[in-house]
Amino acid sequence: MPIGGLKSLNDNAMAKAKTYYFCRECGYQSASWLGRCPECGKFGTFDEEVVKAESVGRRKADSGSRESAPKLLQEVTYSQTRRLSTRCGELDRVLGGGVVPGSLLLLGGEPGIGKSTLLLQMALSASVDRLLYVSGEESEEQIKMRADRLCSSEGGRRKADGSDLRPSTSDLYVVSETVTQRIFEHIETVKPELVIVDSIQTVSTEELDSPAGSVSQIRQCTSEFQHYAKSTGVPVLLIGHITKDGTLAGPKVMEHIVDAVLQFEGDRNYGYRVLRALKNRFGSTAEIGIFEMQASGLREVENPSEFLLSRRDETLSGSAVAATLEGIRPMFVEVQSLVSSAVYGTPQRNAGGFDLRRMNMLLAVLEKRCGFKLGAKDVFLNLAGGMRVSDPALDLAVACAILSSNVDIAVSPRVCFAGELGLNGEVRPVSRVEQRIAEADRLGFERIFISKYSQREVDRRRYGIEIVAVGVIEEAFRALFA
Ligand code: TYD
Ligand code: MG
Repeated sequence: MPIGGLKSLNDNAMAKAKTYYFCRECGYQSASWLGRCPECGKFGTFDEEVVKAESVGRRKADSGSRESAPKLLQEVTYSQTRRLSTRCGELDRVLGGGVVPGSLLLLGGEPGIGKSTLLLQMALSASVDRLLYVSGEESEEQIKMRADRLCSSEGGRRKADGSDLRPSTSDLYVVSETVTQRIFEHIETVKPELVIVDSIQTVSTEELDSPAGSVSQIRQCTSEFQHYAKSTGVPVLLIGHITKDGTLAGPKVMEHIVDAVLQFEGDRNYGYRVLRALKNRFGSTAEIGIFEMQASGLREVENPSEFLLSRRDETLSGSAVAATLEGIRPMFVEVQSLVSSAVYGTPQRNAGGFDLRRMNMLLAVLEKRCGFKLGAKDVFLNLAGGMRVSDPALDLAVACAILSSNVDIAVSPRVCFAGELGLNGEVRPVSRVEQRIAEADRLGFERIFISKYSQREVDRRRYGIEIVAVGVIEEAFRALFA
């Protein structure tokens, strides 16, 4: 057969719509259905999706025609564009000082956690002249009702420091739309400086036949918004839902496309919400933002410690306060523990807000070093307020809370701890211990337990608080309960 004939045969095949199978979890693409994903190892996660073959071909041509030439790094110039301030201190902090022009951000979170509220509130206050809020979930009327609620009360309008948020909503444009091609038409007419899309799971592109929310749609729409953001310099904020197991729904590939992934989380039973950066190309991922959900919207919480410490006066056993640091901000959290004899053969272990494996390791250390038979005890641990903290400085407070409950002797609520525990029971130094001590002093604590190995960094005369330096966990135990 002549080569030309083969080519036209191929062309015919290309014109037909083609189906692919995508893994719901990681976005792995396969030509046939697979029971187990070779990429992420999950079972039964493949969905069939129809992809227009011609569009695949066109996309390839697009990327090939993009102009590019290697440049010397010294010769690369960029304009000193300042970041757009959202005028929401907590959000700016997590973003690393504001929204970078041309960036694509993803805000993830469980349904009902407050993602739409956060971004609408930001849109109402941001120091940007024109904004476009595209919603695929709510109608314009519903957005207006929400905005009115956020603006009507003092809480929504005023920041914690009393400064007024921008009262006017005149340059915030809203549209209810789900097709990206239409969205870009609206963008063309409005010419916004910032675009918010709520949510990426509800938008779809005409290029693909698969339904909105499918892996290929999410991937394609995300890259269309990325292309728009990069070519125009207008930042785009996407809202995304996360699945029950805490990962962003849809493909992981989305996380690679966007510049920053923010996660909004919190316990439904508590009013506060925590905003974290899981990835940030323009800032640190250590910073967190704390908000409180009120009837009038989200309020920024600038002093988390005062909010998180349960104001208890009476002394109950099983509690210890940890002087932790989230990013550069000190945060004092109360650790509560309950140790009781196991009723059933296998002791129960439960940790809320703390890594269970880490708690088991600490229990083994306490068993070995302090001689407690904790192996036959039920141990429950909880961080007050349903907080989740990953600072290793929490260890010492966790160990002391468990010991306190075990011996049924209270630790004074005016005592706090900052130390990491090693496998041999040694109390290790933690980062920025001076800052933790200063904050403990400011909050009115009377004693702070730190590692003996970090006391050299500390100038004791500067603080009114008593600093107890311990080398091993037994020393802390003797100082508290002996
Ligand atoms: P929403 O922003 O719609 O969540 P998401 O977009 O993440 O799905 O927030 C919904 C919840 O927030 C809802 O349960 C009610 C609560 N809420 C308040 O408590 N106060 C308010 O002012 C607003 C707007 C919402
Ligand atoms: Mg929403």
